[in-house]
Amino acid sequence: MELSKLAEQIPPSGIRAFFDLVLGMKDVISLGVGEPDFVTPWNVREAAIYSLEEGYTSYTSNKGMFELRQDISRFLKHRHGLEYDPENEILVTVGVSEAFDLALRALINPRDMVLIPEPSYVSYGSLVMLCGGTPVSIRTLPANGFKISGREINAHSGKRPKALILNDPNNPTGAAYRKEELKDIAKAVEKHNLIMISDEIYSELTYDFDHTPFPCLPRMKERTIYLNGFSKSYAMTGWRIGYACGPKKIMDLMTKIHQYTIMCAPITAQMAAREALKNGERSVQEMRREYRRRREFVIAGLNDIGLSCHKPEGAFYAFPSIRRTGLSSLDFSRQLLKKEKVAVVPGTAFGPAGEGHIRISYASSLDNLKEAISRMKRFLRGKCSSN
Ligand SMILES: Cc1ncc(COP(=O)(O)O)c(C=O)c1O
Repeated sequence: MELSKLAEQIPPSGIRAFFDLVLGMKDVISLGVGEPDFVTPWNVREAAIYSLEEGYTSYTSNKGMFELRQDISRFLKHRHGLEYDPENEILVTVGVSEAFDLALRALINPRDMVLIPEPSYVSYGSLVMLCGGTPVSIRTLPANGFKISGREINAHSGKRPKALILNDPNNPTGAAYRKEELKDIAKAVEKHNLIMISDEIYSELTYDFDHTPFPCLPRMKERTIYLNGFSKSYAMTGWRIGYACGPKKIMDLMTKIHQYTIMCAPITAQMAAREALKNGERSVQEMRREYRRRREFVIAGLNDIGLSCHKPEGAFYAFPSIRRTGLSSLDFSRQLLKKEKVAVVPGTAFGPAGEGHIRISYASSLDNLKEAISRMKRFLRGKCSSN
């Protein structure tokens, strides 16, 4: 039977492949999954329960409830000074995952080149390929805090790329961009006439400076598809709710695809999202404070046991180097799991540029993190003579 060649050629997610090993093992401390360990704030859950009691169980407008789009518009204006028209420029989706897929499907023609800074979130390259496009990796380095600049975009412009995918703050490296750094990128984006797909799902989780949304930069709004959602900031991964904002022409096309594939995001999740935007800020602040505390502990702990780690400025991941052990990132992760029952993600799950690193999620309790660091220390004693 001949199946889709495009679907067959994309690799399975490296995270899933690794976590199949974890399933069935007992007493594992998992620092692998990229999801908050908090439960969705109670007021948000209660709003959803109440909406069910009230009988809100139907489809909504394809673009999402108009009231939710208005709330998103107000939130972006109030929080970031970003202006999007709820009627034409906002689409509510099933997580940022769907929004990202729609953005690509609306933009990409066969053989279009798409620039992707690497290490990158697992789905970017594969979904570009599924659209018939060609991912072009821009390797980022620890020495530059795993960030790109206009220079790297210029250096990769020879192939006439159509779009750039930027994830700020970044999964898996925790890199976050300051406004000046984004301005430099914006210059190159304009120079090479790129469309920007800006995945800002961790926008509320920066620890050292305020987040600048890419479309806030001069002349960038008209060439940016801005993606954000509720999974990370509000601990709402299971609700499956996100949104895309951008120029009407692109949003219309994305909505057309969304109409046929999804119809609309679940109404209960939309109701919950409304409450999160209206009364969720305090919970976000509390979670951010806690992640920040854990970040300080984890980064100090990793450097202390000899796994050198730059300080991540956002999201909830540490991406230390494991090079001094001489092991590949996959072997390191496998052996650590087998010997000490600590699950981390091999850096190569995020592309070849992740070799020599592992991803550790610090969205886990401080007790878990303490125990994990002490197990890793013991593990390293057998690997590096200086430990
Ligand atoms: C960078 C990035 N984008 C998108 C997603 C998907 O988010 P959602 O739960 O909104 O689909 C994730 C989830 O881990 C992520 O890390």
